Amino acid sequence: MNSPARHYPARHLDLAGMGHPAAPLPTSNRTERYDATLRHAGHSSPAAASDPLADYRVRSEPYYRPLSDEIELFEAAYAVRMPVMIKGPTGCGKTRFIEHMAWRLGKPLVTVACHEDLTASDLVGRFLLDAQGTRWQDGPLALAARLGAICYLDEVVEARQDTTVVIHPLSDARRMLMLEKKGEALHAHPDFQLVISYNPGYQSLLKDLKQSTKQRFAALDFDYPEHEVEVEIVAHESGVDRDTAAKLVHIGARARNLKGHGLVEGMSTRMLIHAGSLIARSVAPLTACRMALVRPLTDDADMRDVLDAAVGTYF
Ligand SMILES: Nc1ncnc2c1ncn2[C@@H]1O[C@H](COP(=O)(O)OP(=O)(O)OP(=O)(O)O)[C@@H](O)[C@H]1O
Ligand SMILES: [Mg+2]
Repeated sequence: MNSPARHYPARHLDLAGMGHPAAPLPTSNRTERYDATLRHAGHSSPAAASDPLADYRVRSEPYYRPLSDEIELFEAAYAVRMPVMIKGPTGCGKTRFIEHMAWRLGKPLVTVACHEDLTASDLVGRFLLDAQGTRWQDGPLALAARLGAICYLDEVVEARQDTTVVIHPLSDARRMLMLEKKGEALHAHPDFQLVISYNPGYQSLLKDLKQSTKQRFAALDFDYPEHEVEVEIVAHESGVDRDTAAKLVHIGARARNLKGHGLVEGMSTRMLIHAGSLIARSVAPLTACRMALVRPLTDDADMRDVLDAAVGTYF
């Protein structure tokens, strides 16, 4: 077992050298994300000058504990470049799975966090004005399609429907992206694959994906892992011992039973890892659980008391 400091902060602080081939254990999960603001401002890493996808390569194995046969199913879909939709509640491992699959398949991963102000140009690209005049800047979707990356549109349902339709010609047999402003019909690189994620629990009728979008994708259903697997994940990711991880997972299961009975969402694996990470940093378990599990989950005083009491039966 690695020290907790190696796992949890590595992911969030992006410690230098974590992705170096000489690193003893491949747990850093170093995946670069697309940052439209930085790129459009002209900042990118020096490596990007020779390899435009350098910033998107997954350099070491992201730890991923399979829940079922999802790895094989995704590999089969990738083999025929079938677009894939990952469905599941927040914090259940969707992003980690895609990071792992990109590493496993040896493909760069371009991730776009979708939101309601995302425009088609943000995805496809735009002309920029600089000292030399105007030049075209591929958006993340065009970049991935042109150079052969996996493009992961996270929480795609957040984007407006008129934005989502730009993926239609790319996600059917045409595998093509129209760069209308540039007047280019971009044919996707043979390695390109489109992956989208969303949390069906949050969707309203107004915010659901169109059938014509949904039906272009194969779907994998994700959920919180079963007890033993979740204990393993929480222990690995947070650095707590198995007994403590098991207690956290029991608390998670109790809270998940309250979904629809006062809680809108279950207590995610991510939250359990947060609590474990605080405990591994010597925070008292009761305090850690209140801070990482109960307070973020509800603002309702009665529900908070119920959850605090549940925590109290384990710690
Ligand atoms: N099967 C798993 N193997 C390894 N780690 C996992 C697994 N499932 C969850 N995790 C852990 O849980 C954390 C949260 O998972 P992740 O960020 O992938 O959730 P998500 O489903 O993408 O959530 P959101 O919908 O909020 O984006 C990960 O950082 C990872 O530490
Ligand atoms: Mg995610």
